[in-house]
Amino acid sequence: MKKLLNLSITSNKKLNFAKDKFQALIVGVSDSKTLNGDVKNIDNATNGLIKKLISREELTGKIGNSVYLPTLNGIKADKTYLIGTGGKNKKISEVEFFKICQSISSAALSSKNSSIKVIIPEILVENRDTNWTMEVLGRHLESSSYQYFFKGKKDQPKNVLKKIEIFIESKKSNLSRSLTKGRIVGSGTNFSKELANTPANICTPSHLANQARQLARNFPTIKTKILGEKEMKKLGMDCLLSVGNGSAQESKFIIMNYAGGKKADKPHIIVGKGITFDTGGISIKPARAMDEMKYDMSGAASVLGTMRAIAELKPNKNIIGIIASAENMPSSTATKPGDVVKTMSGQTVEILNTDAEGRLVLCDALTYVERFKPASVIDIATLTGACVVALGNEATGLLANDQKLADKILTSGITSGDKAWQLPLWDEYQGALKSRYADIANIGGQAGTITAACFLSRFTDKYKWAHLDIAGTAYGIGGQKVSSGRPVPLLSEYLLSA
Ligand code: BES
Ligand code: MN
Ligand code: ZN
Repeated sequence: MKKLLNLSITSNKKLNFAKDKFQALIVGVSDSKTLNGDVKNIDNATNGLIKKLISREELTGKIGNSVYLPTLNGIKADKTYLIGTGGKNKKISEVEFFKICQSISSAALSSKNSSIKVIIPEILVENRDTNWTMEVLGRHLESSSYQYFFKGKKDQPKNVLKKIEIFIESKKSNLSRSLTKGRIVGSGTNFSKELANTPANICTPSHLANQARQLARNFPTIKTKILGEKEMKKLGMDCLLSVGNGSAQESKFIIMNYAGGKKADKPHIIVGKGITFDTGGISIKPARAMDEMKYDMSGAASVLGTMRAIAELKPNKNIIGIIASAENMPSSTATKPGDVVKTMSGQTVEILNTDAEGRLVLCDALTYVERFKPASVIDIATLTGACVVALGNEATGLLANDQKLADKILTSGITSGDKAWQLPLWDEYQGALKSRYADIANIGGQAGTITAACFLSRFTDKYKWAHLDIAGTAYGIGGQKVSSGRPVPLLSEYLLSA
């Protein structure tokens, strides 16, 4: 893993633009016509350049407006970026603030400098304070500095960004702590991206298990336990095992236990779908874009990324991360449509479509976690193509058997900018899972995201549970075949506030 950015913050310090030397300078400019603070000082040092840019309407200070200046007379900076930050005395929305963060981080990256100073006014956001803005900025800067690097590939752009210093006019305290918290969640997000982007010939169930072991080695507050196929068989996880039947890769069940709370504190549990490649099995998928099914372990990656962030943030809570991992392949030993298997819960499942495999590994994991008497359980899965149709790349699908839990998750999504949207989990939909030969069929009819969640709900009677369908949000945003690291920000926010 790449080293963390060196991120720091200084409040209310006056820089001397005529004297200090800078590599790259990023300056936030509000849309007010009167210049204040550092922007005024820069204007003075550059013989009124800022005023000139404003009068020419090149610099508006509006969100999304940015001006790049390769050199400046009067300032010893290699290059300067002026970034619009919007309303001087008017509060902006959260989404507008995310846009500002994007402008700042893309300027930082495109500068190709290793050391950058960011000078911003205190930006006022509706319902939020400056601690929130610095947390979000820290997360954005860390997260956007991520780049996948494959050892064998020649000719790759190098990411040289190492150090970012933020200067802000603010009376708020603990800004540095907020920035660091954001950066840690950002690096957990990057860890998740790295795993998800790793090709499936490297990222196997055993690879995920090794990553979990490594996490426990790096962070002694985490204890990792790995179950192989033999141990799973003993527990009665035949349904989970049926998914890996056609694969040469051994299925793995991964338990990561972070005990930051008291012994008696009930744990919050996150459970990730870890299909390291989903061919569809005997119900094989079409060839087009099948490579994207290496991302079918994104739920598992988000569990690892979140556990890593938790290990660094050290909340006084008990949190357990679980991964159910297998490779879904067709072969002479693979599960066939019509096969009936027994789940750990005792319920039998008729596997009508081997491509609906995510629910088959998750259901046994959801039974397994009963032993922890959890305070809440959230599973995270690239579960259905139908969710991409319904919600696109913006919102993660959310379904839950407890409305208070659903509301908390929705709120965590808004706070972190990693949003979810709830779909109904009404009993009316359960009928679609009727089977002639078993207790439940593994596919329903229409409303694929809902019937998939209905399937999972049959295994979650004993606790408060929510399901996150990340098929549309985990990767492929803007048509790019890269992992987004979502929903690590949402899960981290939820677990810290739960
Ligand atoms: N991993 C897929 C879901 C998926 C599809 C994720 C597209 C990301 C993009 C899942 O295992 C799957 O194949 N689901 C089927 C279910 C169907 C057979 C009921 C689907 O969505 O088509
Ligand atoms: Mn599938
Ligand atoms: Zn799948």
